[in-house]
Amino acid sequence: MVYEIEKATQIADNIHEFWINAPQVAKHGKAGQFLIIRLDDSGERIPLTISAVKGDSVRIVFMAVGKTTKQLAAMKAGDCIKDVAGPLGNPSDVSNTGNCVLIGGGVGIACLPILAKALKAAGNHVTGIIGARNEKLLLLSDELEKECDELVICTDDGSRGYHGFPADILKKRIETDKIDAVWIIGPAIMMKITSMATLSTGIRTIVNLNPIMVDGTGMCGSCRVTVDGKMKFACVDGPEFDAHLVDWNELMNRQRIYPAMEKESAELYAADPHRQDGINGHAYGHADGHGHGHGHVCTCGMSKANNGKTGNGVEN
Ligand SMILES: Cc1cc2nc3c(=O)[nH]c(=O)nc-3n(C[C@H](O)[C@H](O)[C@H](O)COP(=O)(O)OP(=O)(O)OC[C@H]3O[C@@H](n4cnc5c(N)ncnc54)[C@H](O)[C@@H]3O)c2cc1C
Ligand code: FES
Repeated sequence: MVYEIEKATQIADNIHEFWINAPQVAKHGKAGQFLIIRLDDSGERIPLTISAVKGDSVRIVFMAVGKTTKQLAAMKAGDCIKDVAGPLGNPSDVSNTGNCVLIGGGVGIACLPILAKALKAAGNHVTGIIGARNEKLLLLSDELEKECDELVICTDDGSRGYHGFPADILKKRIETDKIDAVWIIGPAIMMKITSMATLSTGIRTIVNLNPIMVDGTGMCGSCRVTVDGKMKFACVDGPEFDAHLVDWNELMNRQRIYPAMEKESAELYAADPHRQDGINGHAYGHADGHGHGHGHVCTCGMSKANNGKTGNGVEN
């Protein structure tokens, strides 16, 4: 089975919105969950959040940062993706909590519409706060205006909305409003810093972690994180966790395990004259789907030979 891209749109600088025909994912996918795609037989697996579902289609919103996301960005409506596995991970807890604040930074904003919709449906009051470096990087603000009871827009350079960070708005709101739960989704450093605003308040604060993932089913160990001093696998125990219990430094260090291989992989892809065809069939990633370059031994404990199925990777 292959998965057809039904609609491919660039919605911001280097950021793309794709609707993919994937009936099983669309039928069962919920807020907080993700899928893992593989573009072709030799491609790496990459995780992307389920940003919306409609009928048989699922929406992903991604930034083209490296080899696979650039290859994906070059694809167009009518092209097909080899594998779409999901939904993976645990859905968000969308019980009736009261006043919920959803904070999105950068491409993490893509996770908010489906979450806002589910929280509203459960009877919550939802305030969205979204932030990006500048207005060209702001996503889905029209959609969030509709899904949230209130939306506050922030830009680092003041080109749109409040001139500053979502954390500034959150701090002010904590002083004036009764807030019952906060979700923060974005780059790890943004989640770490923003969650400090609620540290001494007792407000339930949830983050959606984004470690490197390979199989997405708890077997390889790549997505190991430490939460409350205990080892967790973000793909099966998360990806949402209590922000105040996450070992942020470990997460950020582990996200940067493979920079040399990622660079090499991106360079090989850039040098390929056929790359604009989208799926080009060239093996830049590992056959096991890890995809961080040629011929290195992955520290996650997986090798080409085990095809990504058996390495426990916990020594990672
Ligand atoms: C649960 C989850 C949900 C995500 N949702 C989104 C999303 O909705 N939109 C989006 O733009 N990005 C999302 N990401 C990040 C996305 O998976 C990476 O940007 C992508 O894998 C980069 O691959 P690449 O080959 O293009 O870049 P590379 O050059 O290979 O890597 C660039 C950086 O991306 C990260 N990365 C690389 N490989 C992986 C991997 N297998 N798993 C996780 N991170 C990796 C690393 O930090 C790396 O330094 C999510 C990550 C996780 C774990
Ligand atoms: S991606 Fe979580 S254990 Fe492999």
